[in-house]
Amino acid sequence: MTDNPLAPRPSPPAPAVNIAVIGDVHLDWNNFDVDYFNASDYDLLLFVGDIAGYRHRGALPIARSIAALTKPAIAMPGNHDAIHLGQLVAEALEKDSMADALGGGQPRRSRQLDHALGEVTMGGYLRHPIEVGGRRLSVISGRPHSMGGPRLAFRRYLGHAFGVASIDDSVHRLNALVDECGDEPIIFLAHNGPSGFGDRRDDIWGCDFRSSEGDFGDPDLAQAIAYAHASGRRVAAVIAGHMHHHLKGGGRRRWSETRGGILYVNAARVPRIFSTDGIARHHHVEIAVPFRDDASPGGEAHARERLIHRP
Ligand SMILES: [Fe+2]
Repeated sequence: MTDNPLAPRPSPPAPAVNIAVIGDVHLDWNNFDVDYFNASDYDLLLFVGDIAGYRHRGALPIARSIAALTKPAIAMPGNHDAIHLGQLVAEALEKDSMADALGGGQPRRSRQLDHALGEVTMGGYLRHPIEVGGRRLSVISGRPHSMGGPRLAFRRYLGHAFGVASIDDSVHRLNALVDECGDEPIIFLAHNGPSGFGDRRDDIWGCDFRSSEGDFGDPDLAQAIAYAHASGRRVAAVIAGHMHHHLKGGGRRRWSETRGGILYVNAARVPRIFSTDGIARHHHVEIAVPFRDDASPGGEAHARERLIHRP
């Protein structure tokens, strides 16, 4: 194909706020990532959580490395973060009293994680106002440590830290954050995505580890998004992870879709660092939230996967 000199010149891209989303880290993070993101053009870095593997202490050196980022960054705690293996097993088995009994140290572990993250903000029921060159948006970080599905996981900690004892309480917390927002675009940042996006194993937050499959999204997040929409706010994107792209039993899940003008992204490509053909590649998702020249919001947000080759 040759260029047609008579064809209209494409208009320059609208100015956008450019965001890097780093999916479930699970210890896959190193100095190459720090150098890459610090040298990048991104305006904001969002971590969807699960920095840890199966040991809280193993995540702290990774969190200290993330703290070396010089870009604005928010990290959402996942169900592997600031917890220990016994808690995780009790939650997975849905043994509430056992999980409560084992969860006494979670406030201390959360403080350690927050401290290790340094200037990187640890999310969890917070509104984060962002301004880039006169363009404003609000990031709302949702319920921390989500395990997915309709059950409230880590309820002892959520009650202690946030006064949240039920999914309904969580909805009220999230809606109150929506009420703090003005007319700027909103981005929801959560560990797990909202319910309502399919009940098949390869759906964006579908369950792949039970033969019955099912919708494994968070109902409180879905209700907060609906509330934001109903109250006339503009939700630009909903960003989460947790449900890994590679499915148990084989195959890959859908990781992105746009519905009702809202971009939904599941960034959980695990492992996020891998080698093919002898080349190490580091995964993240690039998101552009468009604005007009007068800094008013314009157009739908869009996403693309990035695999950065490490020399
Ligand atoms: Fe997770």
